[in-house]
Amino acid sequence: MSYAVTALDPFGVLIEAARPGLGVRDLEVESLRELFAKEHLLVLRGFGTFASSEDFADYCEGWGEVSVWPFGKVLELIEQDKPEDHIFDCSYVPMHWDGMYRPHVPEYQIFHCVTAPLPGHGGRTTFSNTRRVLERASPERLELWKGVTATYKRKMEFYDSRTVSPLVTKHPFRDFSVLRYNEAPSAEKGTFVNPPDQEFRGVAPGELGEFRAALREALYSPASFYAHEWKRGDLVIADNFTLLHGRDDFTSKSPRHIQRVQVLSHPPLVNPGLESYR
Ligand SMILES: [Fe+2]
Repeated sequence: MSYAVTALDPFGVLIEAARPGLGVRDLEVESLRELFAKEHLLVLRGFGTFASSEDFADYCEGWGEVSVWPFGKVLELIEQDKPEDHIFDCSYVPMHWDGMYRPHVPEYQIFHCVTAPLPGHGGRTTFSNTRRVLERASPERLELWKGVTATYKRKMEFYDSRTVSPLVTKHPFRDFSVLRYNEAPSAEKGTFVNPPDQEFRGVAPGELGEFRAALREALYSPASFYAHEWKRGDLVIADNFTLLHGRDDFTSKSPRHIQRVQVLSHPPLVNPGLESYR
């Protein structure tokens, strides 16, 4: 056996190279895909990775059709000096799903850590398993959540979009329910560059605060939440149909460089909520 698989807490698996000199391409994608279907999150650690961004994109093509953005296939997540959007800042990023503002919603997010933040500098990528959140929700809470629909609007360098989504919906290809939710940036987290506009139907205006707090509590509960602390060379493959994700803030100028590629499902999922897109 060239690798060891251990469970992460509370979900996902860590796959570690059992001897030096192995590369991520030594792991069969179809075996990984089976694990992914069960676990929703794979962390590959200790394997050789990629010579360049192109090489990384080429590896991701082995998982399916790569989603192409105006910038290409690989998003280089590096803090910018004067960011026009929070994704290029060192702030925290609230929970969301990728592709919510795009014509297709990708199934796989593949992250590659080129350089990790220094120890103690934060910058973990956060994941909430919404299948678990819903399995653990009280009947009353579930009832309320099932009646909520949200409208999100966001304009940034790569799009200007409006999307509408029920809070609780079915996984597009599997028989379980998931949450689709974009958390509002919380006030106590300080300045947040370019937040989205949000509107919720099915929640009384006076109850919005309580509604958001209950979701926050559930999404970040230790029973459903995993935060990935990066090590150089880590590859993380996350189920964007089932999980929501975000980021912890990090110390400015810490050498955090994460690359991200989105891979579409087969067949690709046309974004069911997209109302306008530019
Ligand atoms: Fe994202």
